Amino acid sequence: MDKIVGHTPPKPRLTSLRLLLAAVLLVVALATYYSATLNWGHAGSATVPINAAQIVQKCQTLNILPRPPNDFDQRIQSDRFETGTPPTLFRNASIWTGRVSGHEVIVGDLLLDKGIIKEVGQVKRGVLDAYDDLVVIDAGGAWITPGIVDLHSHLGVDSAPALQGASDTNSLKGLVLPWLRSLDGLNTHDDAYRLSISGGITTANVLPGSADAIGGQAFTIKLRPTSERSASSMVLEPPHTLNGTQVDLSLPPRWRQMKHACGENPSRVYSGTRMDTIWAFRQGYDSARRIKEKQDDYCRRALHGQWQDLGEFPEDLQWEALVDVLRGRVKVHNHCYEATDLDGIVRLTNEFKFSIAAFHHAHETYLVPDLLKKAYGKTPAIALFATNARYKREAFRGSEFAPRILAEYGLSVVMKSDHPVLNSRHLLHEAQQAHFYGLPDNLALASVTSTPATVLGYDHRIGFIKQGHDADVVLWDSHPLSLGATPKQVFIDGIPQIRSPHTSAKPIAFQRVPNTPDFDNEVKETLQHDGLPPLETKISNPGTVIFSNVRSVFLRRGKEIEEILPPADVAGAFAAVVVERGNITCIGTLLDCSSFQDSPGVERIDLEGGSISPSLISYGSHLGLNHIDGEPSTNDGQVNDPLKSNSPPILGNGNVIQAVDGLQFSTRDALIAYRSGVATGVTAPSSSGFLGGLGTAFNTGLGHRLQSGAVLQDITALHVFIGSSKPSVSTQMAALRNLFSGTGEGKLGACFGDILSGKLPLVIKVQSADIMASLISLKKEVEVQSGTRIQMTFSGANEAHLLAKEIGDAEIGIILQPSRPFPGTWKSKRILPGPPLTKDNSVTALTAYNVTVGVGVEEQWSSRNIRFDIAWAALEANGSLSKSDAIALASVNLERLLGIQNPITDLIAVKGGTLLDFEGKVVGVISPQRGVVDLLV
Ligand SMILES: *[C@@H]1O[C@H](CO)[C@@H](O)[C@H](O)[C@H]1NC(C)=O
Ligand SMILES: *[C@@H]1O[C@H](CO)[C@@H](O)[C@H](O)[C@H]1NC(C)=O
Ligand SMILES: *[C@@H]1O[C@H](CO)[C@@H](O)[C@H](O)[C@H]1NC(C)=O
Ligand SMILES: *[C@@H]1O[C@H](CO)[C@@H](O)[C@H](O)[C@H]1NC(C)=O
Ligand SMILES: *[C@@H]1O[C@H](CO)[C@@H](O)[C@H](O)[C@H]1NC(C)=O
Repeated sequence: MDKIVGHTPPKPRLTSLRLLLAAVLLVVALATYYSATLNWGHAGSATVPINAAQIVQKCQTLNILPRPPNDFDQRIQSDRFETGTPPTLFRNASIWTGRVSGHEVIVGDLLLDKGIIKEVGQVKRGVLDAYDDLVVIDAGGAWITPGIVDLHSHLGVDSAPALQGASDTNSLKGLVLPWLRSLDGLNTHDDAYRLSISGGITTANVLPGSADAIGGQAFTIKLRPTSERSASSMVLEPPHTLNGTQVDLSLPPRWRQMKHACGENPSRVYSGTRMDTIWAFRQGYDSARRIKEKQDDYCRRALHGQWQDLGEFPEDLQWEALVDVLRGRVKVHNHCYEATDLDGIVRLTNEFKFSIAAFHHAHETYLVPDLLKKAYGKTPAIALFATNARYKREAFRGSEFAPRILAEYGLSVVMKSDHPVLNSRHLLHEAQQAHFYGLPDNLALASVTSTPATVLGYDHRIGFIKQGHDADVVLWDSHPLSLGATPKQVFIDGIPQIRSPHTSAKPIAFQRVPNTPDFDNEVKETLQHDGLPPLETKISNPGTVIFSNVRSVFLRRGKEIEEILPPADVAGAFAAVVVERGNITCIGTLLDCSSFQDSPGVERIDLEGGSISPSLISYGSHLGLNHIDGEPSTNDGQVNDPLKSNSPPILGNGNVIQAVDGLQFSTRDALIAYRSGVATGVTAPSSSGFLGGLGTAFNTGLGHRLQSGAVLQDITALHVFIGSSKPSVSTQMAALRNLFSGTGEGKLGACFGDILSGKLPLVIKVQSADIMASLISLKKEVEVQSGTRIQMTFSGANEAHLLAKEIGDAEIGIILQPSRPFPGTWKSKRILPGPPLTKDNSVTALTAYNVTVGVGVEEQWSSRNIRFDIAWAALEANGSLSKSDAIALASVNLERLLGIQNPITDLIAVKGGTLLDFEGKVVGVISPQRGVVDLLV
């Protein structure tokens, strides 16, 4: 796997290039003189154009590949240096440099000055004495990495908050638009720059969207604010063509970046097919090829002094960027998922002879590595999500094992955000997950630093910690591959980016690379089944199962979770936990529980220092209703919004839809959730309008509704949503007030009767603090009138921290969704970002006022990650939330907030660690209710 460090081609010396040019010019001048003399007096003869020298220079440089100037690594100041930035010295840091295929770690010092890295290792006294304004940071052994590089982002073009005036991702003016430039829409006021920097992101490749086959040119930017405050000043190594068409040809060209997309998106946007998209590519490339051939022909003649009828250099501003692709001077970033699309593009590259820098999303690449190697030129890198998959057909076979499998085939792996699809602030978490599922640690760290820097062609200045590189570095509070790793400080061009960073103390174990589980079998199954390994439970054991080597057991005690550390035996082995017919009957040393050893057919499972804990609940997505979000035929579909249109008369007046009637079992997301410690799903009917309907609670691991234990509770709570502006928010409030007044008809009226009497909880999806404040008022008003207490929960609740006290006083519960906030819309803009930007996160801010807090998800695929979300929330709390509190966030608390009446008793057996770390692997679900242990092998 040495592929990761880019091979730098030998650099021709600029001086020799100049000499060559001078020689050529001399020849041209002589030829000009000679031919002018010779042709004197001959009518129709070739006249040498007066700009012959420029033409020759242009032709000479036409095929020069981008590279840094020869003396680049001798620079003593960055072109991005901001005057007044003081030099900084880190002492005693563990520096992951990205070099030696990501294997090099230097424990020592790091000196930044003039926007570049001056020295790495042991910095001599003499060097330091020369500074009088040196900032010294004692890293105390903490990890430092290069700044994180996001190969695939829409920062600034798909801005936060999303506003109609700031949607500059996709032009819909045609399938092939290589002349467009993302920089022309770059919003310098996107709220996300600061947030992403706080996650250690220093550089992002800002791509146009994927609506078109060729959506336009991308630009790689540094995220920090510049003194000029312009979009252009954010660009890293702006291509010379950015400024105008007259380029100083004595400078080596700089890399350009371009977006391509195939598959579903262009087909959908243009009501076309894959055939149309590939034809559009071929047509576009054919136009570029014709121009390129004319240019090459022109230059052949010009360089041979054949000026006769030569005319103008053939050029076309619309096509010049695509011609540059054919000249190998553009890094092509191709959004492309499926084997069929990858195949089409590999053929295209061979037909037109250009190479792809990276396939992005690329969910099926791990199934066709040999095909990828047939791409023209350099084998493309693969830029992936870790676990975001199954949202449309082309993502259905996406696998968490893809990074590992691709790396094993020798392909370069990049983890990317597609920001704001994933919040790029947490791009490192993608690398962490890839590592969890088997990508080696050196490659996992490289996948968000040195590999993307190399793919972009900027590895001479970013992505590595190396003398002379840009001073973009991150000082971490824990090992960057450990869960919740957070920057203590982020430097871009040597400038510290976080004004007064807040850091939490992290467990000692989090200072090293996590010892991740063995997924060899899962990988084999995935490949064997063409990306769709069977996920159903194969073994349900109704007998006796003895778990040995159990380090910790978390059990519910009423409304809380309690951690018990059972006694180890004399030999040092951890405890045994005996389960009979799904019930725990003994926790103790093997000796304590010896009476169970002889039960017939007893099954023994070594948890290797692992744990047993309550199963988690997934709430907030369409889990159990949808197989593939983008495919209506696979889903339950959306309910009617009674505020927008009348419901069909056949439904009767005041009908309320029940999610339980739309449940679909064995969706892949549900089965994966089950295998990730989430045995219960709570789902409301899908709705984008005011009234959702009645939620339901179901088992994520079972096969159909009629199986015992499949539906835990038919009806849990009534769900409504307040926040869209059609019709107005105030109209939605009026509807709610009206329903509270007891005028609702039919079943809806009955539901509100139950809500008023406190029997049925009302879960309101709401993000804005202003709307929450109105709802708190309404709740008081209604409760005074009725003399009862309403059970009310806000889900979403990005802005809830602004009303923590009022929400606590009103006894309203909160489900944070997403668990780590993002200012995606105006109404969810005022987030509490958490460390390192603020001391508190929303969980700690709300629990300080005794608010019951739960954690939800937004999309089905992320149910599997709830275990990590809750652990992360607690890790940010600097010790104020225990592991038990973390588990409560997605178990007992959600039960209460969502109206689950009978406690969920399922327990999860985790090998090697807990649900809350990257060492634990879920191996079983213990179900007292069903009287079995499901063994997840
Ligand atoms: C570096 O930091 C580590 C961890 O805090 C500490 O044990 C060690 O003594 C420090 N070394 C020096 C040279 O300060
Ligand atoms: C753009 O033009 C200005 C003025 O000529 C020059 O200072 C600047 O360096 C140019 N930028 C690029 C990217 O070529
Ligand atoms: C976190 O806790 C440690 C003590 O455990 C304390 O020194 C530090 O200041 C705390 N950090 C924050 C941001 O409160
Ligand atoms: C939260 O609850 C605890 C224990 O009941 C109580 O002591 C404390 O005053 C409460 N805090 C607030 C802010 O209400
Ligand atoms: C498990 O224990 C519970 C009570 O602790 C009991 O109600 C249930 O019947 C037991 N299940 C089996 C299969 O023994």
